[in-house]
Amino acid sequence: APDISVADVKAHLTQLQSIATANGGNRAHGRPGYLASVTYVKGLLDAAGFTTTQQSFTYGGATGYNLIADWPGGNTSNTLMIGAHLDSVTAGPGINDNGSGSAANLEVALAVARSGLQPARHLRFAWWGAEELGLRGSTAYVNSLSSAQRAAITGYLNFDMVASPNPGYFLYDGDNSDGTGAGPGPAGSAQIEQTLAAYFTSIGVPTRGTDFDGRSDYGPFIAAGIPAGGIFTGAEGRKTTAQVQLWGGTATAFDPCYHSSCDTIANINDTALDRNSDAIAYAVWTLAGSSGGGGT
Ligand code: PHE
Ligand code: CA
Ligand code: ZN
Ligand code: ZN
Ligand code: ZN
Repeated sequence: APDISVADVKAHLTQLQSIATANGGNRAHGRPGYLASVTYVKGLLDAAGFTTTQQSFTYGGATGYNLIADWPGGNTSNTLMIGAHLDSVTAGPGINDNGSGSAANLEVALAVARSGLQPARHLRFAWWGAEELGLRGSTAYVNSLSSAQRAAITGYLNFDMVASPNPGYFLYDGDNSDGTGAGPGPAGSAQIEQTLAAYFTSIGVPTRGTDFDGRSDYGPFIAAGIPAGGIFTGAEGRKTTAQVQLWGGTATAFDPCYHSSCDTIANINDTALDRNSDAIAYAVWTLAGSSGGGGT
């Protein structure tokens, strides 16, 4: 897998910050900063050779949008999806929540294109609308699929908050080995968690499990029986003294600007953003498999 350039990921976050600043300070569902964010991401994916679809849905009297980007090739009946919500809350620009996952996934998608990856599995990236209003975009997407289309999605990777300023390195506990949250996910979730864990082991960074309870866009996927996993660096919760020993930082909130106006470009831990972007690339390359060509 390639080493993702954190400077390139950060450049996308700078663009998302500018979009918010130019549109009343946020990128929320139903507000102009949301559609401008979709247009920014879509333009880069189209230019890179993805097949993109802007899916509309209605929530709360406003039109919402999911952006779906398919990388041509691979076995479409064995599709790996990679997603992040692109909307912010109305209170602020949403750069950690969830510019971070959106930008990291975007740069991994662009790396897939640059490397000419010919994966065994089909790859489909998604940027979800209206997560902050109750997983509305991801739910609309899963509900829009026929049972055959649903069965063709054999895994889903979710990235929501991956650069918290006082970060932890949490993996959705798909195998329930940490006994957190709602217990083991659909069979196959353990493999996803273990793949992400293997990357962090390789760089010597410890991880811990976090609730696999559906508090982000993987919820509708696991509810449909689709294996899922992901990384989370923490939100309003406080880092414990034991976690400070493990990861450094301070015994305060993982993200004191969670859902606030101060979730700006200044609210990003660059080391976490770099490690997690590289972990996403590793998981995509590993789980997608190689069918010859650029992948390893
Ligand atoms: N989905 C939450 C939000 O957007 C953040 C979150 C992500 C919480 C992952 C738990 C796990 O506000
Ligand atoms: Ca990197
Ligand atoms: Zn979020
Ligand atoms: Zn949020
Ligand atoms: Zn686990």
